[in-house]
Amino acid sequence: MTATSSIHGMWSTRLAFILAASGSAVGLGNIWRFPYTAGEYGGGAFVLVYILCVVLIGVPIMMAEIMLGRRGRRSPINTMRALASAEGRAPAWQLLGWMGIVAGFLILSFYSVIAGWTMGYIFRAASGLFTEIDATGAGEMFSGLIGDAERLLAWHTIFMVMVVLVVARGVAGGLEKAVRILMPALFVLLVVMVGYGMQAGDFDTAVAYLFEPDFAEFQGKAGEAILSAMGQAFFSLSLGMGAIMIYGSYLKRDSSIAQNTMIIAGLDTLVALLAGLAIFPIVFAHGLAPDSGPGLIFQTLPIAFGDMPGGSFFGALFFVLLLFAAWTSAISLLEPLVAWLVENLSFSRVRASVLGGLTVWLLGIACLLSLNAWSEVKIFGKGFLDLFDFLTANILLPLGGVLIAIFAGWMLSRASSSDELQMDDGPAYRLWRLLIRYVAPIAVGIVLLNAVGVLGWIGLG
Ligand code: TRP
Repeated sequence: MTATSSIHGMWSTRLAFILAASGSAVGLGNIWRFPYTAGEYGGGAFVLVYILCVVLIGVPIMMAEIMLGRRGRRSPINTMRALASAEGRAPAWQLLGWMGIVAGFLILSFYSVIAGWTMGYIFRAASGLFTEIDATGAGEMFSGLIGDAERLLAWHTIFMVMVVLVVARGVAGGLEKAVRILMPALFVLLVVMVGYGMQAGDFDTAVAYLFEPDFAEFQGKAGEAILSAMGQAFFSLSLGMGAIMIYGSYLKRDSSIAQNTMIIAGLDTLVALLAGLAIFPIVFAHGLAPDSGPGLIFQTLPIAFGDMPGGSFFGALFFVLLLFAAWTSAISLLEPLVAWLVENLSFSRVRASVLGGLTVWLLGIACLLSLNAWSEVKIFGKGFLDLFDFLTANILLPLGGVLIAIFAGWMLSRASSSDELQMDDGPAYRLWRLLIRYVAPIAVGIVLLNAVGVLGWIGLG
């Protein structure tokens, strides 16, 4: 059962795995999505719930995903099928893998559109358009971009080509080197931006906003706020759809899953908090609204870059690095499907990646049109981009996460999980088992049931 390697390749070292998994986790979710979602729900209380979700739900589920992947050594669908059969459980567990493929498609389709905004901003920065821009100017620049379907289509197409190129060559290959340099560079630049915020922005207000929880902020929509904080944790950690599972399937046996998880989740959370600390000082200094939605970083960062010496250069560099962060995340969204096409339909990696990429590209067109030509088309009151985002982050990923937790905690024998995690029956293993069997499934279950209205009586709104 426990194969020592995957047919799709293996990470050369433990560091390679950590870099690839952090590359998957750190992306637009941290720098674009986290600040505006926190802003939508009033800051501190959201951030606190978010961190609780990362620690109590995200960390144990990430350990479970890596563990299942490494034990199965195949695409998530086949891993679930093989593990279910080895443990004498229903073959229907493979549906978890299918759900992940659907979620991956939907996420990548809008992720690519947002990555396209990032590309557009590289050129806006480089050509000096940020120089001395004010809040109104930055707002107009952003609406100009998202109103232009042709430009969005061009960027979306280029980004999907970039993703397909890497996935076609195999993710355990060349990307390692890029991540090794670019991720630290992004980190340094974020720290510089926080420094700028301290000096030129309203830093104290931002710190109070992010770190002094005030549950009154949740007024009347606590259920929605908690759902969004939990969804953000799944999204940011790349959990619930098999991305981390397949990355785990390329990990060698002699690496500690618990330690690796702490490093990845720690880095991911740190980057999100730094992004918040870089953006909110600018928001408050310029009297912008924290709840201005998905355009938040695109309407705030240009003001800061336009105001600092060398801002055109640093602005362009920042959006280049953000683009790389998005790239290393996007490839992990396509990998589970590609691995399955190779395993079951004997596709070549190239054919599998092109087919997957084309499907996502088509879905992405619906997303980018929802920002302009189709802005009147609403399903459940949302356009395609918002709908795909809500449906995946807040529903499909947590649902995938509960099922992973139930499988890892209840379906897999104690012997199997302690063997694969390489933890003997000590306090650490017991804590993990408590979190994965009870805390994670019950917490996620309550929030999800409340969201679909079953538990309206709990009074979470
Ligand atoms: N975590 C990435 C980000 O924060 C996005 C991402 C990559 C993702 N792979 C995923 C989200 C798998 C959910 C599931 O930008």
